[in-house]
Amino acid sequence: MSKQILITGASTGIGAETARCLAPGNEIFIHYNASEEPARIVAEDVEKQDGKAHLIQADLTTEKGCRALVQSVSDKTEKLDVLFNNAGGLIRRTAAGACDWSLMQEVFALNTFSTMMMTSLCIPLLEKGEAPCIINNSSLATRHGAPTATIYGAAKAAIGAFTKGAAKELAPKIRVNAVAPGVILTPFHDKVTKAEQLELWQDNTPLKRHGHPMHIATAVKFLIDNDFITGETIDINGGLFMR
Ligand SMILES: NC(=O)c1ccc[n+]([C@@H]2O[C@H](COP(=O)([O-])OP(=O)(O)OC[C@H]3O[C@@H](n4cnc5c(N)ncnc54)[C@H](OP(=O)(O)O)[C@@H]3O)[C@@H](O)[C@H]2O)c1
Repeated sequence: MSKQILITGASTGIGAETARCLAPGNEIFIHYNASEEPARIVAEDVEKQDGKAHLIQADLTTEKGCRALVQSVSDKTEKLDVLFNNAGGLIRRTAAGACDWSLMQEVFALNTFSTMMMTSLCIPLLEKGEAPCIINNSSLATRHGAPTATIYGAAKAAIGAFTKGAAKELAPKIRVNAVAPGVILTPFHDKVTKAEQLELWQDNTPLKRHGHPMHIATAVKFLIDNDFITGETIDINGGLFMR
């Protein structure tokens, strides 16, 4: 049966690849903020695979933007089966000794507040869904300390606690899990990571390569398909961090 799937930040990178991966036979709500043209291409790719695509723009760093997105989704569907809280980013690198209040607000709003708000607002739609689940996008930066990404790592770590708490509160009807990507080559790194840093991480990664957005998309699909997992975060990082 066709699933109704909302992916935030689906214009580029991991969200775009997940939309393509989940497209066949499903209805995908492709959210974007600034990247309208790339989002249109994702929508075309979804439709080429017999999926149905809806494009919705919203700035998720504000409550108003989150509410507007959920309202637009509600105008088009009575239920949701999957919410992938994927929108996020590091904004800019800085040292823990040089914390900037407005940067902290921006990073937490984009990564943490949007995930919590979208979860909260989508619960009524998910409660009407078929085997509904939420997947949050965390990060390797939460796992073993990430110099110059300390604010971002802290914002993503909060998602881990929220995932577990929500998984208990929303059980047994709605499952809540997370993915924690390692270094995945997407526009994320074009914005904030130097080539030398990428090379260093690759050398330190047991599998000696960086990830592709598909490595995360297939983990998201696994978490949708396996309905006995909740409260879990799956690490996908080529062995750069092992539990
Ligand atoms: N790539 C990695 O190595 C890596 C590692 C760990 C975790 N992650 C996480 O994976 C997720 C996806 O990142 P990515 O690597 O795929 O990078 P990306 O290609 O830069 O994607 C980021 C997405 O977030 C959206 N976004 C940015 N600002 C927004 C805002 N104010 N309101 C709403 N949406 C906004 C972007 O939309 P527009 O472009 O349309 O504005 C874009 O679709 C993020 O949560 C990131 O933190 C990535």
